[in-house]
Amino acid sequence: MTHAGPNFSLSDEHEMIRAAARDFAQKEIAPIAAEFDESGDFPLETIRKMGAMGFMGIEIPEEYGGAGMDTLAYVLALEEICKVDASHGTIMSVNNSLFNYGIYKFGAEAQKEQFLAPVASGEKIGAYSLTEPMSGSDAATMRSRAVRNGNEYIINGRKSWVTSGPVADYLVLFTMTDPEKGHRGITAFLIDASQPGYSRGKKEPKLGIRASSTSEILFEDYHCPVERRLGEEGQGFKIAMTVLDAGRIGIASQGLGIAEASYEASLNYVREREAFGQKIGEFQGISFKLADMKTRIEASRLLVYQAALAKQNSKATGGRYTLEAAMAKLFAAETAMFCAHAAVQIHGGMGYSKEYPVERYFRDAKITEIYEGTSEIQRLVISRMETGLR
Ligand code: CAA
Repeated sequence: MTHAGPNFSLSDEHEMIRAAARDFAQKEIAPIAAEFDESGDFPLETIRKMGAMGFMGIEIPEEYGGAGMDTLAYVLALEEICKVDASHGTIMSVNNSLFNYGIYKFGAEAQKEQFLAPVASGEKIGAYSLTEPMSGSDAATMRSRAVRNGNEYIINGRKSWVTSGPVADYLVLFTMTDPEKGHRGITAFLIDASQPGYSRGKKEPKLGIRASSTSEILFEDYHCPVERRLGEEGQGFKIAMTVLDAGRIGIASQGLGIAEASYEASLNYVREREAFGQKIGEFQGISFKLADMKTRIEASRLLVYQAALAKQNSKATGGRYTLEAAMAKLFAAETAMFCAHAAVQIHGGMGYSKEYPVERYFRDAKITEIYEGTSEIQRLVISRMETGLR
């Protein structure tokens, strides 16, 4: 057993999945990351291989086709993937937490049996659809509708910013069944993308995580059987928020991975590059940047692992880990941005060139401050929980 930091002990199993993810990322993802970033194509082949490695359903029990491991194992593996390519990490985090976790926690037995294994194995791609063109941070204001008609619901509306949307086989969809009840009128559904009434809208031309592919999804008289409702009518907002608590831990570990990649690239560069007759790492203006990067990275790591343990412990207590997840996401996302910004600056002109990976880290880092709840939303969640005021 080795120590990952104060109070965090890694078992042999943790060390194994971390090493497996590190090795996979180096061998399979590093050679293609820049190419897929450039093209914006979805890296289906590597995602399938990640599924075969067990990376797409790490916390899902083996009886449902997952790897049956804990949340710490999940964040360790995700951190390693994101250290090499945040796009692959985004797809991995959506399959694991935004899709599979919600079904595992809230799904009926038949839903778990049908949906978990294909997504945990990477054969199918899962997605999570909450946001709409006019409903982002204020998620309860959605306009899409599901109207009950006998044994089915008829769904209409436009969803936006669906990560993996251009290729997703299944969605967890949040839509309004009773608009008069506000957030208590939102219901969750499991959507099969192959059915009539489902279409993919425009693919977003994005600044970063370009290979993760994001699009609108349009529903036009989509017929969803009642058995595909996830949870009860009106329970959707709570499901969405509970799932986002889990998702935010994943994004926090993504931020940590991007920050570490930026730091390591910078360390290598300052030991080699010379200016004014010395290694640039010997200038205090550079070395102090590195000190700040390293310190924020280790602080992020503690918050990420703490949040992972809080989620793990919640399995026994049924308690929430909203605060730990929001703090980890806030700090790790801002650390990713801080480190990627510093890395570009340390690399100077080279940092602005696609010849070096730090410009990709810089573009990828930004999304961690935006999706699954902006940094402003994390501050709102944290302060509301601490003050008890709204
Ligand atoms: N867990 C469980 N329940 C929760 C919860 C949580 N974390 N947070 C809130 N709730 C419950 C509350 O207890 C309350 O319950 P009652 O019905 O019993 O009153 C209910 O939800 C409403 O809560 P609030 O009054 O606090 O709701 P609000 O409208 O003020 O919104 C918010 C709260 C925190 C701002 C929330 O809207 C939010 O998180 N917004 C950001 C949305 C977001 O993260 N979007 C990203 C989408 S995913 C994505 O990025 C794309 C992708 O594919 C990766």
